[in-house]
Amino acid sequence: MLNEKVQDVLNSQINKEFYSAYLYLAMSAYFDEIGLHGFSDWTKIQAKEEVDHGMILLDYIIERDGEVKLSQIDSPERNFSNPLQVFEKILEHEKYVTESINCVAHMSDDECDLATRHFINWYVAEQVEEEANARDVIDRLKMFGAEKTSLYHLDKELGDREYVYHSYKE
Ligand code: FEO
Repeated sequence: MLNEKVQDVLNSQINKEFYSAYLYLAMSAYFDEIGLHGFSDWTKIQAKEEVDHGMILLDYIIERDGEVKLSQIDSPERNFSNPLQVFEKILEHEKYVTESINCVAHMSDDECDLATRHFINWYVAEQVEEEANARDVIDRLKMFGAEKTSLYHLDKELGDREYVYHSYKE
């Protein structure tokens, strides 16, 4: 049986992961609107990964004989002005998610739930990668983002991203 406090933070994390998917889909639509279809594909694939993150949490709660409680998902913001600003928002959001994952880890420690502490380590590592990915694109946009040819090439590169199903059990 899953500890109730741990279950609450896991359910809250499900909501944050699905909100993340919504946010990335809003960004994907923005990129399509301004003709950056590679950026759009990249953010759409990220949205799929966020759904995976939410589903893995959901499956874990069920596996631990806990109760899944799904709450309302907020509408994502839509105030986007340029690719650099979007990726800065991505990094800011992923830092927020990292803090939230860290809180799940802390709660697991506090409640002596070693199974969840082990489970959530996969997310801790995943967040390092997600922040690094956003930072990498920010660095390159700052370096040459105002130059249209470079933006064209970066758009093509980001469009090559392929969706890979994520599982903490692999
Ligand atoms: Fe699932 Fe981007 O955090």
